[in-house]
Amino acid sequence: METDTMKVPVHVSIIMDGNGRWAKERGLERTAGHAEGVESVRACTEAAVECGVKYLSLYAFSEENWGRPQSEIDTLMGLMFKSMIEELSAFADNGIRFMVLGNRSRLSGELNAAIDDCMEKTMENRTLTLIVFLSYSGKWDILQAAKKFAAEMARHPERGEELMALEPSGFDRYLVTSGIPDPDLIIRTSGEMRLSNYLLWQGAYSELLFSDVLWPDFRKREFRAAMETYAKRDRRYGKVK
Ligand code: IPE
Ligand code: IPE
Ligand code: MG
Repeated sequence: METDTMKVPVHVSIIMDGNGRWAKERGLERTAGHAEGVESVRACTEAAVECGVKYLSLYAFSEENWGRPQSEIDTLMGLMFKSMIEELSAFADNGIRFMVLGNRSRLSGELNAAIDDCMEKTMENRTLTLIVFLSYSGKWDILQAAKKFAAEMARHPERGEELMALEPSGFDRYLVTSGIPDPDLIIRTSGEMRLSNYLLWQGAYSELLFSDVLWPDFRKREFRAAMETYAKRDRRYGKVK
């Protein structure tokens, strides 16, 4: 692999899917698949740093996932809590800025406090920004952005004309991803070919890559192979080359 001359994506995003099927194949509980998936997060984070990717974002829990059995929700939130505490020193050692984005009002007070602590302690790090989308959905994000915009209009009627001149690039700042570049590449594991309400606005021009590998088996080798695939893509943005 010619890593030196390769086109490296600035922002890679992953829809981490297939934990349940990975566990089922082994006759294990779905929760075992989620626990193994944490190892893939670690491996892909390391690989992203090694490849020179600046933003790695992971779809960990959708707004729709609140419809799963409470025991599975508790396991997933518990894993999030535990991993964050365990990884904090590794984030500091490796220059990783950690962020959680999503509808945080639905998370427990304990989890929110741990997230705030981890975000605050890593906010100066710049080697890699690791974003976990938790209780997130694309439609929710666009709607909360629209509500913020409407509230600003109501607060500042004298600026009505200026605000109504809003362009797509200006709308970005109302989204929870404000300040974060749009994903260059969105990977979905486990063979499913849908976005499941993920980054609907921000992914407007992302390259899409669907892998049959189940998330717990998606490690450094698979991540590097995805970087090679991306390097061969021709991004035209509607223009003629
Ligand atoms: C991804 O794996 C994890 C989450 C969506 C939280 P799944 O739990 O969706 O696994 P499958 O799709 O049932 O195999
Ligand atoms: C998408 O996976 C959400 C995450 C990976 C967090 P799901 O397994 O929930 O998606 P569907 O139900 O197959 O669309
Ligand atoms: Mg799934």
